[in-house]
Amino acid sequence: MKRFWLVLVLVIGLAFAGYQVASANGGPHGGYSATTDACAGCHRAHTASGAQLLVASDTYNLCMTCHGASGTGADTDVENGYYLSTRNASSAVGEVNTPDNSPLLGGGFSFYQGGSVTSKHDAAGTTSAAWGNGVARGTTGALTDGNLTCASCHDPHGSNNYRIIKETINGVTVSVAQVDEGAAKDYDTEQWGTGMSSVCAACHNDYHKIAAGQGSTLDGTTYTHRVDMSYAYGSNANPETVGFGSLTLPLAESGTNDTVVCQTCHLPHGTSATMSGFASNAGPAASSALLRLDNRGVCEVCHQK
Ligand code: HEC
Ligand code: HEC
Ligand code: HEC
Ligand code: HEC
Ligand code: HEC
Ligand code: HEC
Repeated sequence: MKRFWLVLVLVIGLAFAGYQVASANGGPHGGYSATTDACAGCHRAHTASGAQLLVASDTYNLCMTCHGASGTGADTDVENGYYLSTRNASSAVGEVNTPDNSPLLGGGFSFYQGGSVTSKHDAAGTTSAAWGNGVARGTTGALTDGNLTCASCHDPHGSNNYRIIKETINGVTVSVAQVDEGAAKDYDTEQWGTGMSSVCAACHNDYHKIAAGQGSTLDGTTYTHRVDMSYAYGSNANPETVGFGSLTLPLAESGTNDTVVCQTCHLPHGTSATMSGFASNAGPAASSALLRLDNRGVCEVCHQK
């Protein structure tokens, strides 16, 4: 009898441990019940239009039926890079914290902050290799999961990470805590923890140098800026609270809210920042490199030389 109860407690415990957090307010991403209707929003058993039994031709087009510029099923328009509550009666599901037309935190795939996108992650399923993926920085290595799509980074079925970021990306375990966010999401205030660098490092591992001194240590054949440390160095300004003029950069919320991560300088979707002069041809990509600010605004917000 004792054993029966022990087993029962274990089974209940496991059931809860395996339960996926319902991450998207009113969205079809996770927290499913045994008789959920959600699968039918994206899959057909016999009459699918795309591989993986998708109702659209591919993953990118499926996501865009709701999150695209002409989508109607989600308030977050990742193509134009802004939030529109009118699309999905969002106030009914608690998304009351984000004002209409706020720029989204991820950037945009076509437009951002009113400007055309100048560089982006090509999530349409046509790009197969990433900078520093198992190879040296400045060269590209093939992804293990196939070409880059929205589902390379997000799990449409929900996850325990911030913004349903996949728990395994490109074969690497990724953990991004969601901090200080209530049941209603803020799509205009970043709420990620220090694990945000692990998302980028999953595909660009050679850029992820965190040890003290690595800013000045020859690593392979080139040097690289350190990440995952405090912003404090010399007479640096706090980029999040002080910044430079009206420009600021976000730091990871590690409790002290002071940590520099990849997303401090870069946007994950796409940017409309423009590059000129010395900045126009920098880096092997010679592009705006998903940077948050024009030219080298990112350097000055911290260093203020
Ligand atoms: C928001 C859209 C969406 C919903 C809702 C959805 N799926 Fe999926 N599903 C996808 C996409 C997109 C893929 C392909 C992912 C990729 O490209 O790697 C997929 C892949 C799958 C796969 C194969 C890969 C894997 O993860 O094992 C299975 C099985 C699956 N879905 C089952 C389900 C079931 C069951 C439901 C309902 C509980 C469901 N899906 C709900 C979008 C969705
Ligand atoms: C390289 C990884 C990556 C790819 C590819 C990617 N995302 Fe994201 N996405 C992120 C990250 C990281 C965030 C969190 C941004 C933040 O809060 O700072 C995010 C945020 C979001 C959000 C919340 C709104 C926002 O912008 O903050 C939505 C919706 C979203 N992504 C949908 C998509 C769709 C649809 C695609 C494909 C067209 C896609 N993502 C491709 C990494 C990615
Ligand atoms: C049937 C409509 C629909 C489809 C298809 C869909 N989504 Fe969503 N998604 C939503 C809704 C609704 C939300 C809630 C937020 C909002 O209104 O934008 C959401 C939220 C999200 C979020 C934010 C989660 C969070 O924690 O706040 C991400 C990221 C996301 N979707 C990615 C995707 C990706 C990637 C795909 C394609 C694989 C996809 N979605 C397909 C409707 C959809
Ligand atoms: C699933 C794999 C994957 C993840 C995760 C990922 N990337 Fe990428 N990234 C790529 C691929 C593939 C390319 C090259 C093709 C392209 O430009 O989209 C790329 C290109 C880039 C570029 C060059 C863009 C240009 O055209 O100038 C930058 C910068 C970048 N990534 C930064 C990041 C940052 C920052 C993160 C984390 C927020 C991240 N990446 C996460 C796969 C990934
Ligand atoms: C978010 C704040 C922040 C931003 C943005 C930033 N830096 Fe730094 N930088 C730091 C910190 C902190 C250090 C000290 C790192 C360490 O502890 O090794 C540093 C170190 C340096 C160093 C010294 C490296 C060494 O060898 O000791 C140089 C040079 C530098 N940064 C240049 C730049 C340039 C150029 C940019 C723009 C591309 C930039 N930084 C953007 C915070 C920042
Ligand atoms: C301090 C700001 C800053 C941080 C933090 C930062 N980057 Fe960058 N990144 C840049 C700049 C500036 C460029 C443009 C090229 C250059 O100056 O090297 C760039 C370019 C890139 C590129 C394009 C290829 C190339 O080498 O030019 C990739 C990929 C990239 N970064 C990935 C990452 C990843 C992954 C992280 C976190 C591990 C990260 N970056 C952190 C500023 C930053």
